[in-house]
Amino acid sequence: MDKFLITGGRPLHGRVVISGAKNAALPALAASLLTDQRVILHNVPRVRDLSTMRSLLEDLGVDSSVTHEPRGNRVEIEARQLLNPVAPYELVKQMRASVLVLGPLVARFGQAKVSLPGGCAIGVRPINLHIKGLEKLGATINFDHGYADVRANGLKGTEYYFDTITVTGTENLMMAATLATGVTVLQNAAREPEVQDLADLLNKMGADIEGAGTPNIRVRGTGKLHGAEHSIIADRIEAGTFLAAGAITGGELTVSQCDPEHLASVLADLEMAGVKVVRGVDDPQTLTVMAGAKLRALDVTTQEYPGFPTDMQAQFMTLMTQAEGSSVITETIFENRFMHALELARMGADITVNGRRAVVRGKTPLSGANIQASDLRASASLVLAGLVAEGETVIDRVYHIDRGYERIEEKLTQVGASIARISESD
Ligand code: EPU
Repeated sequence: MDKFLITGGRPLHGRVVISGAKNAALPALAASLLTDQRVILHNVPRVRDLSTMRSLLEDLGVDSSVTHEPRGNRVEIEARQLLNPVAPYELVKQMRASVLVLGPLVARFGQAKVSLPGGCAIGVRPINLHIKGLEKLGATINFDHGYADVRANGLKGTEYYFDTITVTGTENLMMAATLATGVTVLQNAAREPEVQDLADLLNKMGADIEGAGTPNIRVRGTGKLHGAEHSIIADRIEAGTFLAAGAITGGELTVSQCDPEHLASVLADLEMAGVKVVRGVDDPQTLTVMAGAKLRALDVTTQEYPGFPTDMQAQFMTLMTQAEGSSVITETIFENRFMHALELARMGADITVNGRRAVVRGKTPLSGANIQASDLRASASLVLAGLVAEGETVIDRVYHIDRGYERIEEKLTQVGASIARISESD
């Protein structure tokens, strides 16, 4: 298992180019199952979760090809036939987003067998709402040996209200509804930019979707979709993570090729915490954190988009360890997403966790230590801690970070960080 060795204390300076959004590319790959024609995707990030999704498509009998482009990967998929409608336990347990094939498979082939995901490092994360929604669209469900076996003889448009806002649940049902007969209205839908990006792709494929990005999505089933070409949006969480890295190290760091609109809540909170962020003067797709910020404690509560993203909570917690005062961080989306707090405490942070709340008392110096990554965003928060800590930090299990950040150590090195990957074989 690879590790990162970080020597802290260097302010970051320069420019980081943001990759395509993992959480937009994953449903886009799944959407290619909705047609027998070629779907071409650009700006697909080179991260492990995308390779896992390609392996899953391969298991289903669908080949994809990848070519490198100056910006991300170009992935080409032609789902002419389906050999095996199963998302197996081995893949679903590695990556819960595997469940995104459920809607497309049932809609196009009338059958899908998807392993139930079970618990994960950040919470229970059931898929009951995906399943209930498909049932409402006319599918029948059987649970057997840890799998949901979902079958349909043609889906029919319906109205469905999500009891809890779910990103992949919204994506699954939106995809399924494109091939249903009649109109489907999804209420209390997720408004994330990744949902909008998926709707843009589906509309290019001939779907008729209105309202993506609002709580009410209306899908007029068109029965058949065709091929399309689409470029994935920028990763707002990667951009936010690098902005936090610039701020915590006291450097002047620019992130480019991002969409500042998708980062509104993160930027607002960074600014309230004393970070000066300059919006692209000559290029609207850039953001720069300025040096010299005096960080102030700020209370933050995670919310669905457009609120503060749970996927930035861990990174913000690390930032708050370097702010003057007490900050209360409330996690409302997942019930167990504070694993990083214990590791940060080992580095000298003063953090008390009580249920879904963490109180961070700053400013405390951090000192380098041997620490362990527990999930993707927790790993990112530990990298930030390593960048500001005195001495050397060794982060174990960085495969978590490779799931969703493209070459993070290379991007950080380019802007002045001292970070090296230590491979098992080294
Ligand atoms: N939920 C249910 N039932 C369901 C579905 C969800 O109770 O059927 C609950 C979950 O347990 C959770 C809440 O609803 O408490 C929201 O979960 P959601 O379904 O929105 O999460 P997700 O779709 O599984 C996506 C991202 C996550 C991100 C969350 C929240 C992808 C592939 N994953 O997950 O990304 O944290 O939305 O924004 O889009 C990450 O990138 O590190 C990551 C975990």
